Amino acid sequence: MSKQSLTITDNRTGQIYEIPIENDTVRAMDLRQIRVHPDDFGMMTYDPAYSNTAVCRSAITDIDGERGILRYRGYPIEQLAEKSTFLEVAYLLIHGALPNQAQLAVWISRVMRHTYIHENLAHAINTFRYDAHPMGMLISSIAAMSTFHPEAKNVDDPQVREKQIWRILGKLPTIAAFAYRLRIGRPYNYPISALGYTANFLYMLDYMNERDYEVRPEAARALDVLFILHADHEQNCSTSTMRMVGSSRADPYSAMAAAAAALYGPLHGGANEAVLRVLQNIGSASAVPAYVERVKKGEMRLMGFGHRIYTSYDPRAAIIKKVAHDLFEVMGTNPLTEVAIELERIALNDEFFISRRLYPNIDFYSGIIMQALGFPVDMFPVLFAIPRAAGWLAQWLELLDDAEQRIARPRQVYVGPSVRDYVRMAERR
Ligand code: SDX
Repeated sequence: MSKQSLTITDNRTGQIYEIPIENDTVRAMDLRQIRVHPDDFGMMTYDPAYSNTAVCRSAITDIDGERGILRYRGYPIEQLAEKSTFLEVAYLLIHGALPNQAQLAVWISRVMRHTYIHENLAHAINTFRYDAHPMGMLISSIAAMSTFHPEAKNVDDPQVREKQIWRILGKLPTIAAFAYRLRIGRPYNYPISALGYTANFLYMLDYMNERDYEVRPEAARALDVLFILHADHEQNCSTSTMRMVGSSRADPYSAMAAAAAALYGPLHGGANEAVLRVLQNIGSASAVPAYVERVKKGEMRLMGFGHRIYTSYDPRAAIIKKVAHDLFEVMGTNPLTEVAIELERIALNDEFFISRRLYPNIDFYSGIIMQALGFPVDMFPVLFAIPRAAGWLAQWLELLDDAEQRIARPRQVYVGPSVRDYVRMAERR
């Protein structure tokens, strides 16, 4: 059996060190013994954007970027998308196992009992400008929830944790719907929890006192699958933010407001909004080649393509593409779909993208479905944040219960000026 260790020779001193290997990693702290002088701080790793740094042990989501594999608690995403529901997947992520019938019934009733928001929060949403971006309203409202539920600060109390989880999963769709209704100048539709998670959300967004109003089951199911696919994705930028803020033992609302802010960025969850604007900008399938040439010249990035982890196809994109086609059969095709299909066809065969292993990611097709469901483009990141709350909460719980974790506090390599004396104003140039 080969030795599970690295033997490192420091050529500055000739010293040899034996560094243990575990899970194909070495502990960064084991490098600190490597010094030139005994009073040196010791060796660190330098890893901007944590491209090659594992910050935790996690049992939640397993991704194999080379083989395009994504599993939640060991279950393949393809099976969950086909056979499960978002609330069941949220239970799986948070509790670590699929619920039995009784557990699922209690879980659904608890979450759906927390769909109303405090009336003061509903009024606060009303104070935003008519053209406020819904992600700005969502982030602010999540932070504001910490003021309505101050007991959430007791992050070590299991009952308190569980109640905030029900509240967040139950209330985020209501906040999102109220933000949307404010934007279009329509009165709020208060939740009808009996409709089910995604049907109730679509109802709150859409209902305008039609006598025989019904949520289309195909639309509710398509959104439920989208929510399953967006629920977690291990240590992405927004989840790492949730863990970073959670590591200071802040309440889950404050941590989640920070995570949602990270998700808002166009390189992360804001990409689905950017994808639609690209497709609208291209306008027609015939205009795709010219646009691709501009991307290849480096004028802009092709939004919805590329991924830090998936060096092959994002498995979620393949599932979403099928959901899109099924939905368009019922709700009619979307002219931008033709542009997206042509863009994907050209990009998948172009050496520029192949050499950089740039394949469509989850955001490439999700935006087209959201548009087909009638959502305005700036609601897209909100539709990413709602289901990702389940993953953020699961990761937050895992962090709190991990004995190895403490407040996150990375180090730096200082490259600024060395010590110098203060200069009086009269002596400054
Ligand atoms: C999500 O982390 C997650 O798991 C995220 C997510 C989740 O579920 O949480 O999966 C959700 O955020 C999906 C990604 C959505 N973002 C986009 O679609 C925005 C467009 N894609 C990129 O900006 C980019 O691909 C990233 C941000 C997704 C990944 O970037 P990396 O890994 O930091 O890669 P890089 O920026 O170092 O680029 C490597 C090369 C560069 O070329 P060179 O300078 O070496 O010549 O690839 C090029 C980049 O210019 N490149 C692209 C490109 N993405 C990378 N060129 C054109 N179009 C692109 N989309």
